[in-house]
Amino acid sequence: MSLQLEQLAEPAALRLAAACRSRVYPPGAYRVRPSGCIVTDLYPQHAQALRDFDIYEDDVWIASYPKCGTTWTQEMVWLIANDCDFKTAKEKTLNDRVPFFEMMTVLELPPEITDEALKGAYSGNIKRPRYFKTHLPRDLLPKQIWTKKPKIIYVSRDPKDAAVSYYHHHRLWSGYIGTFNEFMDAFLDDLVLFSPFWSHVLDYWSLRHEPNILFNTYEEMKKDLPGVIRRTARFLDRHLSEQQVEQLAQHLSFSSMKDNPAVNNEKYVQEEIRRNQMDDRDGQLRFVRRGEAGGWRAEMTPELAERFEEWTRRHLEGTDYRIGVSGGH
Ligand code: A3P
Repeated sequence: MSLQLEQLAEPAALRLAAACRSRVYPPGAYRVRPSGCIVTDLYPQHAQALRDFDIYEDDVWIASYPKCGTTWTQEMVWLIANDCDFKTAKEKTLNDRVPFFEMMTVLELPPEITDEALKGAYSGNIKRPRYFKTHLPRDLLPKQIWTKKPKIIYVSRDPKDAAVSYYHHHRLWSGYIGTFNEFMDAFLDDLVLFSPFWSHVLDYWSLRHEPNILFNTYEEMKKDLPGVIRRTARFLDRHLSEQQVEQLAQHLSFSSMKDNPAVNNEKYVQEEIRRNQMDDRDGQLRFVRRGEAGGWRAEMTPELAERFEEWTRRHLEGTDYRIGVSGGH
């Protein structure tokens, strides 16, 4: 399957790009066919290497559409797989332990970043078993994923919450100065980075019965974190004592993650706020930010929420996917 790139030309996409004043998280520049995924202008030079990346059977991949609970899942999975080694989890940042696979397509590594694991992730030259985070849709994953079949844990979330979270993410990391509503229009038009949202979710959903795929949801993690920890541990063939489950749930609580420098990226957040002299009075420019299921209610008008509902109904017609409900194992 050869990939075809088409440059984004829709006025809404160009407006979104023009409203992004920072390149820490650049806006979408191309659409890749066949997946339709929106990628940055850095993607084309790495596309082939990403597709040809060597996979090992014992890799563990965490996949998601952005802002759906990736960081939360990364920390959970790494700790389950490493027998709740809280000490190392404090000492080594999550970015080191579970690097962002396609990071080179998002961030031109500034020279001050000496993060060996992130560079290593790209070369594949890191200690096994390797853990990766990816936002790539199913059809852009490395080809060997389908023959080596490493374990993949996908996490999904209500798109209303993901979209609101993504808006604040763009304010912080893309220097987005456009309006909330313009961003939401672009989200609903599938023009933001790693969109389209629904095919991202549904393509992984269609694989949920595969033995190497686990499909979790943010909402279930909120409702019953110990339950999701146990399920994920079973999937990873790990046994955790009930005491470990309890300790891990405590470690993964919103307040604990918010205060944990190994996962909250607060150092980079503060640098970004300073560098761009951002107005942080609303307190929303955070990586671990609000942490709610249904937090969209505080920021969306009923009309906008109804547009999301209608959009969702249209995309879910004929599928058995329900927001917040996991599936498979
Ligand atoms: P909000 O912006 O709605 O607060 P990702 O890691 O995929 O970028 O997702 C980020 C979202 O997960 C943010 O959502 C963040 O606050 C939330 N999150 C991170 N850690 C969390 C935790 N321990 N409990 C609940 N939500 C968490």
